[in-house]
Amino acid sequence: MSNFDLVVKNAHVATASDTFHADIGVKDGQITALAARLTGAATEIDAAGRWVTPGGIDAHCHIDQPSSDGSQCADDFTTGTRSAACGGTTTIIPFAAQMKGQSLRAAVDDYHARADGKALIDYAFHLIVSDPTPAVLGQELPALIREGYTSFKIYMTYDDMKLNDREILDVLALARREQAMVMVHAENAEAIAWLTDALEGAGLIEPKYHARSRPRPVEREATHRAIALAEILDTPVLLVHVSAREAINEIRSAQDRGLKVFGETCPQYLFLTEDDLAKPEFEGAKCLCSPPPRDAANQAYVWAGLSNGTFQVVSSDHAPTRFDDVKGKKIRGTDAGFRWIPNGIPGLETRMPLLFSHGVLDGRITINQFVALTATNAARIYGLYPRKGTITVGADADMVIWDSETARTIRNQDLHHNVDYTPYEGIPLNAWPALTLSRGTLVWDGAAPLDAIGRGQFMRCDLPEPARPSDAATAQPWL
Ligand code: URP
Ligand code: ZN
Ligand code: ZN
Repeated sequence: MSNFDLVVKNAHVATASDTFHADIGVKDGQITALAARLTGAATEIDAAGRWVTPGGIDAHCHIDQPSSDGSQCADDFTTGTRSAACGGTTTIIPFAAQMKGQSLRAAVDDYHARADGKALIDYAFHLIVSDPTPAVLGQELPALIREGYTSFKIYMTYDDMKLNDREILDVLALARREQAMVMVHAENAEAIAWLTDALEGAGLIEPKYHARSRPRPVEREATHRAIALAEILDTPVLLVHVSAREAINEIRSAQDRGLKVFGETCPQYLFLTEDDLAKPEFEGAKCLCSPPPRDAANQAYVWAGLSNGTFQVVSSDHAPTRFDDVKGKKIRGTDAGFRWIPNGIPGLETRMPLLFSHGVLDGRITINQFVALTATNAARIYGLYPRKGTITVGADADMVIWDSETARTIRNQDLHHNVDYTPYEGIPLNAWPALTLSRGTLVWDGAAPLDAIGRGQFMRCDLPEPARPSDAATAQPWL
């Protein structure tokens, strides 16, 4: 019997903290040895001259998520996980979303039914809490946290999702007691509603005015408020899809004061600007997301936030609505105002190559920062570490072997999602995964994804790091 099912030879390994040369031995889907020379494998892959990094964790993506506006999430767990694997991601964490009036448990059961038997790579679930009733806060959420759903997103905007400040405090207090992680979509709902009405009243309804309806102070105010509420309850919080300088400064200032405030940003704030929303013939709708892309100077500020450690996580916020589709961006036709255009853009497959190419190879971040931002930090924050997010003995053999000498251009026709466009069309790249391994199985060989739908496993999340002593968690310092 072979010692190993697979040995990746001559790997130039990068983790969040180290780089080293090693052979990587894999048995039964796990990394079982790291050594200068390993033999005795049924299969060998020679990675000479290539970076080998942990498979990516996309900790914010929307897959087969029901909507309330009649639009359709274009990717299900098959197309979504296939696309992710081809771009070097080996774990996704999409959202089991509670609709107002719905039981959270029912939302989770429904989401499992959507995922079961369909995924190519592994997945966990965040929850979306849109209706924190006494039953949800008193029974459902504590039970679900203990069953491995340890993080949940709350919204400060969108009429069908938003919580008021009192409800946010209720959720934060529960999260503190149960040691769960709260993710916050921070935009001021009333300001957006007022500005949207004002813009519409003046006849300014094209996609580009979406950015005008959500200027940077809208995000700053809500970010400040979310942090203040978390500070009052002394509980960690993670701000998702952070787009703008002022919000970044709020997060940085909280971190400097010693608060456990984490930040996530996304490729759209590094590679798109509000000018993309102004493209003619409704093309701007392809880049319409919330918060909106900002300007070039702001992009530079987001890049700085990656290198100076303000951000812990880069996720795609993959929210796949097709463009030329009456269940997609054109749900109300091309003359309808920006208010009616489904928010969100696709990006599962391009997240890792964009960041490797324009982050690492262009010298904006180190390879270790790349690993931390795309995999390790999310694994730690959401309770998947060290099974996921690193290359070490005992971890799942989730790895990317990079071709970092390629010269290619992003073209939607080469991608594997079920969306008819990519907002990153035409961006040049010098890196793409040559191979992606999920638990030691080749799921992307550089040419095609593996035809093995259903091999992806659901993962329960532990409590986020660092778990606090339970007496500290149950104390109520605000009393
Ligand atoms: O515009 C966005 N970001 N759409 C996806 C939903 C969300 O708020 O993350
Ligand atoms: Zn959001
Ligand atoms: Zn999202």
